[in-house]
Amino acid sequence: MVEVRLEKVTKKFGRVIAVNKVDLVFEDGKFTVLLGPSGSGKSTLLYLVAGIYRPTSGKIFFDDKDVTNLPPRERNVGLVFQNYALYPHMTVYDNIAFPLRLRKEPPEKIDSKVHEVAKLLRIEELLDRFPSQLSGGQQQRVALARALVKEPSVLLLDEPLSNLDALLRLTIRAELKKLQQKLGITAIHVTHDQAEAMSMADKIAVIDQGTLQQVGTPEEVYLKPRNLFVATFIGNPPANTLTGSVQTVDGTVFVEVGSARYQLTEEVSKIVREAGVEKLVVAFRPEHAKIVESPLVDPEGDLVLEGDVYVVEPLGRENIVTLIVAGMPIKVVTPPDVKPHSSSKVYIVVPRNRVMLFDVETGLNIEFLIREIHQKIPD
Ligand SMILES: Nc1ncnc2c1ncn2[C@@H]1O[C@H](COP(=O)(O)OP(=O)(O)OP(=O)(O)O)[C@@H](O)[C@H]1O
Ligand SMILES: [Mg+2]
Repeated sequence: MVEVRLEKVTKKFGRVIAVNKVDLVFEDGKFTVLLGPSGSGKSTLLYLVAGIYRPTSGKIFFDDKDVTNLPPRERNVGLVFQNYALYPHMTVYDNIAFPLRLRKEPPEKIDSKVHEVAKLLRIEELLDRFPSQLSGGQQQRVALARALVKEPSVLLLDEPLSNLDALLRLTIRAELKKLQQKLGITAIHVTHDQAEAMSMADKIAVIDQGTLQQVGTPEEVYLKPRNLFVATFIGNPPANTLTGSVQTVDGTVFVEVGSARYQLTEEVSKIVREAGVEKLVVAFRPEHAKIVESPLVDPEGDLVLEGDVYVVEPLGRENIVTLIVAGMPIKVVTPPDVKPHSSSKVYIVVPRNRVMLFDVETGLNIEFLIREIHQKIPD
């Protein structure tokens, strides 16, 4: 297949910078998900790879070949649009055959390829129908068949699941992942749904306002978000954040959030002292915290916060408890039997290895800040 590489790619529409200096590699044979909120530049980035748009600046490579100025038909990409864009006056068969007829392939070859891909996507019995006679899920498969029939080197998917109902999305998302693995094709899938991204991706590229925020495996972006945007965009409910002030007591550096004091490690204390940081954002995921009635004296130095229970939402498999900590709402996911009473005073315990710290000014995760400093100063 092919590796797709973007080098400092920028796309402007008049004064709008839709994609801003993006450096990104889509690995050969891997499923990469481009994740970001509405208007963040996901579709624009996909259409730049497809060749529908030309970058304002920067370069695009397929393996070692510079394709920046090649039109779509010379890139051999398969593209599935959000609305499927099937030709309404053509049967399913003709829709799928269309890209091969454009290439003037011989009719026998077209026929065998259409049947092969229809079998793969289990739509053989629909070949004589028109798009208006299909359900959303069936139309989605036809659009996918049309993209795959020309054996593209890259498969580009622009929110292909967003028009499907919740249950069908879950089914198709698993099938799509299986299909990509089976074909071993380089795939770029656009979505604003973080759960979809987590479940499908080999790699997730998070984008906001045209700027790449982080690229990593689902585990990396979930456990080690590079910045506050990624921490709060990924996860459901998203990560909790509290701003605390940095205090030094008898030479030990703490961050103070509400009535709690959380001791910083030597390494973080050093950075904080050297950079003169006065405030830090303390963050943790709702599923990494525990609710207890009394705080045990904790030798590990976990984060222990005092909170008032605001409301409990039972979801069957778990409960979501909203608490007020230092005037701010905090969410904790608890097992079904943990249902603290509203207005009761409880303690929230977050293990040290699950506490994330971010710089207030830049939003950058302190761990990344340390890593970047180490990279700059070779020892
Ligand atoms: N053809 C265009 N002309 C002018 N501005 C455009 C054009 N296409 C996109 N934009 C702008 O570029 C930005 C990125 O748009 P894009 O469609 O790539 O976002 P997106 O992440 O795909 O959003 P969504 O999730 O809503 O589909 C937006 O501000 C959008 O208004
Ligand atoms: Mg879009």
